[in-house]
Amino acid sequence: MKIAILPGDGIGPEIMAEALKVLDALRRNGLKVETESALVGGAAYDAFGHPLPAATLKLAQDADAVLFGSVGSPKHDALPREHRPEKAILGLRKECDFFANLRPATVFPELADASTLRSEVVAGLDLMIIRELTGDIYFGEPRGVSGEKGARIGVNTMHYTEAQIRRIVHVGFRTAQQRNKRLCSIDKMNVLEAMQLWRDIAIEIVPEYPDVELSHMLVDNAAMQLIRNPKQFDVMVAGNMFGDILSDEASMLTGSIGMLPSASLDANGKGLYEPIHGSAPDIAGRGIANPLAQILSLGMMLRYTFNLGEWADRVEGAVKKTLAQGIRTADIAKPGETVATTAQMGAAVVSNL
Ligand code: IPM
Ligand code: MG
Repeated sequence: MKIAILPGDGIGPEIMAEALKVLDALRRNGLKVETESALVGGAAYDAFGHPLPAATLKLAQDADAVLFGSVGSPKHDALPREHRPEKAILGLRKECDFFANLRPATVFPELADASTLRSEVVAGLDLMIIRELTGDIYFGEPRGVSGEKGARIGVNTMHYTEAQIRRIVHVGFRTAQQRNKRLCSIDKMNVLEAMQLWRDIAIEIVPEYPDVELSHMLVDNAAMQLIRNPKQFDVMVAGNMFGDILSDEASMLTGSIGMLPSASLDANGKGLYEPIHGSAPDIAGRGIANPLAQILSLGMMLRYTFNLGEWADRVEGAVKKTLAQGIRTADIAKPGETVATTAQMGAAVVSNL
């Protein structure tokens, strides 16, 4: 098994270092994996003039799985769009056909009071958002800005084929089958034709999963319901842009965006695993970032790509134990609590493995 390690920018390298300590500890216990690292994002642009150099893409394509940190930095925001760090993650998703993005939002009991919502609203929350990653307005044509200054027109296109909708809705149904058997499909069919197609396809698939209960919700209502009563949801399936927005919203139900891992899978279970948070340039280089989302991303990799559920349980168990011991990075600490550094949090997880 070979893992491509792409730390990226900002806090990416700091939190990746902690995930690699966890991986080393698992290797000492007999896990057989090889790793190879490469630059990606702004770091790759600085070194090679491109956020996703050919060698980095090839490493990702040849590996069995990719562990990704985060990309993006203010210093690269002014570059032409095709050289911006974000292009790296979008390119990896597209080139490797990582179309199915699994974004769990689970509330660790120890952290129920870290949410900005009342703890009874979020305690026990266990939600899975399935987001489509290779279609929609992110990649639709035509796109661009044209015309003379003063009369310019900006265009992006929501674009979905039946096949794209069908394969992600299937992932939604299969995920619901393994959980509480309720799937909520998110669309905006009251306004958008592409989203009417989304709903029609979802309804077509229902007979194939008699054990799953399918419901539909317009995205604006879903955004409201996530705050009002998030525990009504089991699995949500959404297109690329709506899933992007709803998954950020859902992450905050859990108290910190620094806690949540994600998996982006192709049709064969190969995947890219990354924290759902970004590169957090405001705290980069200070050793205070929360490495748990990166560590839990490694856990998801063991579970979903390598089918090593017991090893994944060990990683998740070590994270839970560390939280139960009261160890907190700044983002999840209460006022007055002792704050652990990134490295201290990583070391605590390793010792709890
Ligand atoms: C995410 C991020 C990315 C996205 C950005 C960095 C391109 O927000 O993974 O959710 O919009 O998909
Ligand atoms: Mg996002």
